[in-house]
Amino acid sequence: MIRTAVWGTGNVGRASIRAVDAHPELDLTAVIVHNPEKVGKDAGDLSDVGRTLGVAATDDIDGTLAGIDALVYAASGEIRPEEALADINKAIALGIVAVTPSLYGMYDPDSAPAEFRDPILAAVKEGGGSLFVSGIDPGWGNDILPVLISGLASTIDQIRCQEIFDYTTYDQQDSVRFLIGMGEPMDYEPPMVAPTIPSMVWGGQVRLIAKALGVEVDEITEHVERRALDETVENAAMGTFEKGTQGALRFEVQGVIDGEVKIIVEHVTRIHPDCAPDWPSPPDGGDGAHRVIIEGRPRIEVNVEATDEGGNRASGGNATAVGRIVNSIPWLKDNEPGLYDALQVPLIPGVGKLSRTVTA
Ligand SMILES: NC(=O)c1ccc[n+]([C@@H]2O[C@H](COP(=O)([O-])OP(=O)(O)OC[C@H]3O[C@@H](n4cnc5c(N)ncnc54)[C@H](OP(=O)(O)O)[C@@H]3O)[C@@H](O)[C@H]2O)c1
Repeated sequence: MIRTAVWGTGNVGRASIRAVDAHPELDLTAVIVHNPEKVGKDAGDLSDVGRTLGVAATDDIDGTLAGIDALVYAASGEIRPEEALADINKAIALGIVAVTPSLYGMYDPDSAPAEFRDPILAAVKEGGGSLFVSGIDPGWGNDILPVLISGLASTIDQIRCQEIFDYTTYDQQDSVRFLIGMGEPMDYEPPMVAPTIPSMVWGGQVRLIAKALGVEVDEITEHVERRALDETVENAAMGTFEKGTQGALRFEVQGVIDGEVKIIVEHVTRIHPDCAPDWPSPPDGGDGAHRVIIEGRPRIEVNVEATDEGGNRASGGNATAVGRIVNSIPWLKDNEPGLYDALQVPLIPGVGKLSRTVTA
């Protein structure tokens, strides 16, 4: 069994605890928390797994890292990238296999800033650990899924990857209002779409798709559209969103090849289903979907609708992103130490998950 710790118990961490606990080759050895009130609590109670797991959450980072083989790093990285990088590097330098969605800049290691990439490569060399970064909305939907489907096409004009979300049931005030700008005046500039930020977060995914298709992106451009609410809406979790404030946001990170937009990672978000009804929606009218469209011959469209905690698609999307990185741990453990990208780590079939008996 691979002794595995989960660091963080937020949206991603909860799903990670469940995924590690369910994996036939992984042993949930420890859970690291930042919030002092969570120290000592059972991992089962912190993760919506429905039973006690017998693993008490700890804030002893060094003690935990000394006794594990693998780490799922689910602590926040977007607001503390240097600290997250230092945490992860410490683990890699101890020979630990680390997986995480928290290092946005490392999605495509080849185009990542040297100040991020070089310390990781040094830690790999020093300690023999590995790192795989994936999971950003939701990772596989913007890398291996479009690449896989591209292999079914005869000709390809454009590849579009969409995350479509209605935040009605999403209880994350700070992200929804401050970061994305829902309910804010139309002259408010949401930090998530401030110029260059979308390219920083999703540009690596555009480059990875291009790399898989044997082309190079000449330029990454951004396109943002916003819509105001026609009516005030009440949200059970997050309160009132006033008429005239932002009710929908849509943006694209566009990979330009030979002067044309060829690869697009797009987000379409709303605070209420009635806002921007002409924008893309999930096929079943649900609160979210991930979609890949290959424009070409034939035209190919794939929709993925995953649900989890409380039946919502936001936690379902999270859980699939987590499944991708957690299920890759045994493969990473079996391969050479290194810094891996999503094209190098295969999608691992759910071996042992139907019966919990490992047969291959
Ligand atoms: N949710 C998604 O769909 C998604 C998708 C892609 C990437 N990500 C990235 O994955 C990471 C986690 O996302 P999330 O949705 O799980 O966030 P979240 O629910 O807000 O949870 C935040 C986590 O960060 C920990 N934390 C907060 N401040 C910390 C600090 N100063 N030092 C160490 N740990 C700290 C919290 O610790 P405690 O466990 O003690 O509460 C908690 O585990 C973020 O970087 C996010 O950008 C998330």
